[in-house]
Amino acid sequence: SPPGKVKDAVKKAIDVGYRHVDCAYVYENEEEVGNGIQDRIQAGVVKREDLFIVSKLWCTFHEKALVKGACQATLKALKLNYLDLYLIHWPLGCKAGDDLFPMNEKGMMIAGNTDILDTWEAMEELVDAGLVKAVGVSNFNHEQIERILKKPKLKYKPANNQVECHPYLTQEKLIDYCHSKGISITAYSPLGSPDRPWAKPEDPSLLDDPKIKEIAAKHNKTAAQVLIRFHIQRNVVVIPKSITPARIEENFKVFDFELSKQDMETILSFNRNWRACAMTMCINHKEYPFSIEY
Ligand SMILES: NC(=O)c1ccc[n+]([C@@H]2O[C@H](COP(=O)([O-])OP(=O)(O)OC[C@H]3O[C@@H](n4cnc5c(N)ncnc54)[C@H](OP(=O)(O)O)[C@@H]3O)[C@@H](O)[C@H]2O)c1
Ligand SMILES: *[C@@H]1O[C@H](CO)[C@@H](O)[C@H](O)[C@H]1NC(C)=O
Repeated sequence: SPPGKVKDAVKKAIDVGYRHVDCAYVYENEEEVGNGIQDRIQAGVVKREDLFIVSKLWCTFHEKALVKGACQATLKALKLNYLDLYLIHWPLGCKAGDDLFPMNEKGMMIAGNTDILDTWEAMEELVDAGLVKAVGVSNFNHEQIERILKKPKLKYKPANNQVECHPYLTQEKLIDYCHSKGISITAYSPLGSPDRPWAKPEDPSLLDDPKIKEIAAKHNKTAAQVLIRFHIQRNVVVIPKSITPARIEENFKVFDFELSKQDMETILSFNRNWRACAMTMCINHKEYPFSIEY
C-alpha cells in the first residue's frame, strides 16, 4: 500500500474489532503498522495483550547468525517487545546481504546454502529468549513440515503454516495434514489478491465469479464476505487486506450468517489449483515448495 495509508488502515481495523495483524519485514511498512498499533494502545482502545501480532523472517535472513537480528529489527519497527507469532516467510533461503531480492542475470533469486532445519533452530531460540510467543512457517509444503517434525532434538513444533488459500486453491490435503499434526492454517490472499502487481488479464477473479456472487446474493452478503466466511467454517484463520475504511468494516461483518453444508461443498468444487502468489523467481531453488502436490 502507498506510504501514509497503512497507519490509518491499522487504526480503523482495531476500532472495528480486528485483533490479528499480519506483518512481514519484506512488506517494508512495519514502522507504519507499529505507529497505528501504538496510536490505538495510547488511546486506550486496546491493550498489547488483546492483540495477536504476526511477522515473518525474510528469505535473506535464514542464516542462523542473522535470525535474531532480523526479528529484533521487526520488533523495533513495530515498537513491540514481543511478537505473538513469528514465521519463516518461505522455505527459500536466499543470498544474505542488503538486497531483499538478490537476483542473478536471468532474473531469478540467488539461493543461499542454509538448511531449513538450522533456520528452525534459530527460530526456537527466539521463543527461549522471550522475543516471540510462538514460531511457525509460511508457504511450506507437507514434506518440508514433516522434516521439521522429524528433526532430532526438536524443541518446538511449528504452531502455524500460513499459505495461500481460497476457492481456486482449496488446499484440502495440506489443511488435513497440518490439522492432523496440531498445526493451524492461516489463509492468505483470501480474495485472490486483486491488487498484486503481477496480475495478468487472463487470470481468474474470485470477487467477480458469478457462482460466488450467487451464493453471496442468497445470503444478502458480498462476495468478499463469503470468501472470508468460507475459511472460518473450515477452522482456518483468514487475513483479508484492505486500506479502504468501508471494506475494512465489510470484511468484519462475517459473524452473523452461515454458509450451508451444500454452499461449502459447492465452493470447494471451484478448486483449480490456481496461485496468485507462486514465487516463480525461485522456481529452481532446491526448496521451491510448489513442485509437489501439497
Ligand atoms: N505469507 C505470504 O507469503 C503472504 C503472501 C501474500 C499475502 N500475505 C498476507 O495476506 C494478506 C492478504 O493477502 P493479499 O493482500 O495478497 O490479498 P487479498 O486480501 O486477497 O486482497 C486484497 C485486495 O482486495 C481488495 N479488497 C479488500 N476487501 C475488499 C472488498 N470487501 N471488496 C472488494 N475488494 C476488496 C483490497 O483493496 P484495498 O486495499 O484497496 O481496499 C486489495 O486490493 C496480505 O496483506 C499479507 O498480510 C502473505
Ligand atoms: C441486506 O444487507 C444490507 C447491508 O448489510 C442491509 O442494509 C439490508 O437490510 C439487508 N436486507 C435484508 C433483506 O436482510
